[in-house]
Amino acid sequence: MNNKTVLVTGGAGYIGSHACVELLQAGFKVVVVDNLSNSKPESLSRVQQITGSPLTFYQADIRNKQALTDIFAKESPSTVIHFAGLKAVGESCEQPLLYYHNNVYGTLVLAEVMSNANVKQLVFSSSATVYGESSSVQYTENFPLGPINPYGRSKAMIEDILRDLSAADKTNQTEYPWKIALLRYFNPIGAHESGMIGEDPNGIPNNLMPYVAQVAIGKLKQLPVYGDDYPTRDGTGIRDYIHVVDLVKGHIKAIEALNSEKFEAGGCKAYNLGAGRGYSVLEIINAFERVTGRKINYKISPRRAGDLAECFANPDLALKELNWKVEKNLDDMVADTWNWQTKNPQGYI
Ligand code: NAD
Ligand code: UFG
Repeated sequence: MNNKTVLVTGGAGYIGSHACVELLQAGFKVVVVDNLSNSKPESLSRVQQITGSPLTFYQADIRNKQALTDIFAKESPSTVIHFAGLKAVGESCEQPLLYYHNNVYGTLVLAEVMSNANVKQLVFSSSATVYGESSSVQYTENFPLGPINPYGRSKAMIEDILRDLSAADKTNQTEYPWKIALLRYFNPIGAHESGMIGEDPNGIPNNLMPYVAQVAIGKLKQLPVYGDDYPTRDGTGIRDYIHVVDLVKGHIKAIEALNSEKFEAGGCKAYNLGAGRGYSVLEIINAFERVTGRKINYKISPRRAGDLAECFANPDLALKELNWKVEKNLDDMVADTWNWQTKNPQGYI
C-alpha cells in the first residue's frame, strides 16, 4: 500500500480519469482538481466504481490561486500530475488568448502554489506537437522544438517555464529541488477495458479514432480521410497510436523515477510516450473493420492544414530511464474503443 497523495489536475478528463484508475490501483490517495470545462463528474464516479476506492474531487479552476492554495493546505499532496488544459488545435488558432491563459497562465499559478506549499514533484502532460519540422519521422527527445499552432506553443512555453524553474534550483542551490517529468504523448486512443470510462468528445470529433467509432455506430455518416497523396506507404497520414492505459502507466513509472536516485539532485526531463511504430489512416480503418465487423464508410478528402505526413516516437529513453514501454497492440486499442463506444453511445450522460 502506498499512502502518498497525488493531486491530479484535469483528472475528470479522458486521460486524467484513466490515470486516476491506475493511481488508485497502485495504492495512491487521489485528489482531483478539475473545472469540468471539458468533462463530466460522472467519469469520476465510474473511476470509483471500477476501483472500489474513493477519491477526493474539487471542482475548481487551476487559475484560482486561493482555491488551489486551500486545496494544497488541506490535502498535502506529495506529487502533482498536471493534465488540466485545453487541447483543440483548431480552436487554439481561433482563440489563442484563451489557450495561453488557460494552459500557460494556469500552469504558472499551479507552479507558484506548489512552490509555496513546497510540493516540487511534477509530471506534466506535454505533446509530440512540440517538435518542429524534422528530417526524420521518428522523433527523439533532443530534436529541436518548433510547434506550429498556439496549442502546441502553449505546451512548448510550459516546458520552457518548467525547465527554467528547475535550472534556477541549481543557481540558488535549493535544498529541495524541483523534480519534473515532461511527458510528450503521441496519439492516445482506446479506453479502459471495462468500457466504463473513455473519450467523450464534445460535438464532432477532431481526432481520427473517436470519428471512426462514431461512423461505425452510425452517429456520423462518413469519415473524411484527410489526404491520400502523402509520401507514405499508402498515401495517408501515419501516426504513433498509444493505448491510453499504457500511457497512464507511464505516469506511474515517472512518479517512481522522480522518487528514485535518478532524480535525487532534482531536474526536469522530457520523455516520449509512444509505441515507436506508426499506422496509417487506412490501416486504422482496416483494423477497425476487422475487429468490430462493422463497415467504415469513408471518403478521400483534401489534406487538413497543419498535418504532417508521418511521425512516430523513439521511445528508447522512456524504456531506459522510466522502465516503461507499451504493452497493448492496435487490436486492443480498437476493441477497447469499440467496447466503450457501444456501452456509452452518447458518452457520459
Ligand atoms: P480532456 O479535455 O479530456 O481533459 C482535460 C481536463 O482538464 C478536462 O477535464 C477539463 O475540464 C480540465 N481543465 C481544462 N482547463 C482547466 C482549468 N483551467 N482548471 C481546471 N481544469 C481544467 O483532455 P485529455 O485528452 O485528457 O488531455 C489531458 C492533457 O493531455 C491535456 O493537457 C492535453 O493537452 C494533453 N495531451 C492530450 C493529447 C490527446 O490526444 N488527447 C495528446 C497530447 C497531449
Ligand atoms: N484524420 C483523418 N480524418 C479525420 C481525423 C484525422 O483522416 O477525421 C487523420 C489526420 O489527417 C492524421 C491522423 O488521422 O493523419 C491522425 O489525426 P488526429 O487528429 O487523430 O491526430 P493528430 O496527430 O493530428 O493530433 C493529435 C492531437 C494533438 C496532438 C498530437 C500529437 O490532436 O493535440 O496528436 O500528440 F498534439
